Amino acid sequence: MGVQRRIGAIYTALEAVPPFLIPVLYEDTQISQISRIMPTCAPIFELRNARDSDYGFAERLYLMTMQPLLRRLGALNKQDLIANFRRLYQRDDVKIIVVGGVDAGWLQVGESEREISLYQIHIEPDYRRRGIGTCLLQDLLMRSRQTRKPVSLYVVRNNPASVLYERLGFKVVGEDETKLFMRWE
Ligand SMILES: CC(C)(COP(=O)(O)OP(=O)(O)OC[C@H]1O[C@@H](n2cnc3c(N)ncnc32)[C@H](O)[C@@H]1OP(=O)(O)O)[C@@H](O)C(=O)NCCC(=O)NCCS
Repeated sequence: MGVQRRIGAIYTALEAVPPFLIPVLYEDTQISQISRIMPTCAPIFELRNARDSDYGFAERLYLMTMQPLLRRLGALNKQDLIANFRRLYQRDDVKIIVVGGVDAGWLQVGESEREISLYQIHIEPDYRRRGIGTCLLQDLLMRSRQTRKPVSLYVVRNNPASVLYERLGFKVVGEDETKLFMRWE
């Protein structure tokens, strides 16, 4: 059997596996590796560890989304947002999303003893709505099933990303004036 046909057969077999069994199959697999294995995600993107030189890229994408959203809510000016970004950004927890050799976005995920936290996810406009966000979130949900830890995140109230989170089964478990606190378990 050729390599292509063998890979095809593996994908077909994986698609037939009920989702709740996949974490068992991939018990030792790291989150970023799963993206390369899963049939729907494999051809789309790769993840690499962030370098110091990625800081400007990450900050630009963060401000591009957050500034207009928060301006509409009358919250945080640009200087506050930059300070916020500096405080939250942890390079060691950041992965850069690479599509065809081009840096297309980034995400920051933390994991404690109690939960998995999606701190940030930002994708360049040209690469949005192609399924990358769904794919990365599904990896986190798979990790959540493996570890039996909930996944938590904050989303600004008027951010259309909340539609995606709800579609994947996240529930609103708290809120303040500007943000919703969502959890998947
Ligand atoms: C949110 C984000 C990471 C999702 O990644 P993605 O690769 O675009 O996600 P997918 O293609 O898997 O799913 C897209 C879904 O997200 C939702 N969505 C996200 N942003 C949207 C927008 N600007 N307009 C409309 N729908 C949007 C929709 O439900 C959409 O589904 P649809 O295309 O079927 O209508 C990406 O859109 C992004 O970087 N947005 C700007 C940054 C941001 O808001 N980050 C989240 C902070 S909590």
